[in-house]
Amino acid sequence: MTLAAAAADLGRADPAGGFRVWSPGRVNLIGDHIDYSGGLVLPMALDRGTVATVFPRSDGQIRGYSTNFADDGVHSAGLVDTTCDAGHGWFTYVLAMVDTAVRAGLEIDHGFEIHLSGDIPDGGGLSSSASVEMAVACALEQMFHPGWDPTRWALVGQRAENDYVGVACGIMDQLAIARGRAGKAILMDCASLECRYVPVPSDQVTVLIGNTQSPRRLAGSAYNDRRAAVERAREILGADAGLATLASDQVDGHRDELEAAGVWRETRHTVSEQARVVAAAAALACGDVATVGRLMRESHESLRDDFRVTGEYLDALVSAAWQTPGVIGARMTGAGFGGCTVNLVQPDQVEQVAVGIARRYAAATGITPEMFAVAPSAGAHVLD
Ligand code: GLA
Repeated sequence: MTLAAAAADLGRADPAGGFRVWSPGRVNLIGDHIDYSGGLVLPMALDRGTVATVFPRSDGQIRGYSTNFADDGVHSAGLVDTTCDAGHGWFTYVLAMVDTAVRAGLEIDHGFEIHLSGDIPDGGGLSSSASVEMAVACALEQMFHPGWDPTRWALVGQRAENDYVGVACGIMDQLAIARGRAGKAILMDCASLECRYVPVPSDQVTVLIGNTQSPRRLAGSAYNDRRAAVERAREILGADAGLATLASDQVDGHRDELEAAGVWRETRHTVSEQARVVAAAAALACGDVATVGRLMRESHESLRDDFRVTGEYLDALVSAAWQTPGVIGARMTGAGFGGCTVNLVQPDQVEQVAVGIARRYAAATGITPEMFAVAPSAGAHVLD
């Protein structure tokens, strides 16, 4: 996307003064539904994401256009009325970031135009929304120079999502996108927000995404329900630092009480998933990808049986992968309820594996999945 093409979409005669920002999507290798419990997670930023082309304005208008929602045309709002509800479609994310950043102390003294173009499946579990949020963050940092670090911007993004979109998400998506590094997965401590980097050995594994192409139903409300269950368990156990910081022997003795409250299985998933992330990060760091693959399978089973966020299409696509030679590990990724799977695949067999998984999934469901390889990549940054 050139500056001139973006300017034309926005109805601007002149592309002068514009700049471009890149913001990736993310995939989580292991550790789902434990970021909001102070857990460890192991995501990576993708080489797919959002390009934002930004033109500062001298007045107080914010205007936006997305090639992914071209039928919407150009949205606009005044700087003073960014305290919006979620009724602006994709443009809500832009206004939510502006308003949340202002509430966090950013001084914004002029408007801007933003043109977005993304290649992440919308609503597919690869964080297309957090990608947009961090693109806006990067644009605001560049225009208003507050000197905030990427972690602070990630917190602004999470707050925007919580307050405006109404999803009580954790920090994983925004932080992975803000702090990604080429060739690395991020071992993220969601309590301290510390990030350590673990190389993904490209000579041993290729990361292959599978999109179930199934509608993601009730994702927001079911997500919030699960989060409420985990919160209830945390209260019962008095786990102030977060449920994921407890070991299994600390929760086992409270099983009856947790079962009576209807939150035992959520607790067991949280605690066991944390242990799997620790083991998977250690295994990945020493190149033991077979162990990572085994732990990914256990993670999917726990998300399916205990946390109950997979559903028939994710289960079918993961089970197709488990049956396909050349697959080292496969599981759902992200919030679940539809969306995408993540597969670790032998690098010299990516094509055959993708075809094999797709054929098995299509036979089971009648749907052709989208399969594509991704590489661990840098976080959001200004391009030019
Ligand atoms: C969504 C949320 C994240 C995280 C995952 C599940 O992607 O935005 O904060 O909770 O689901 O791991």
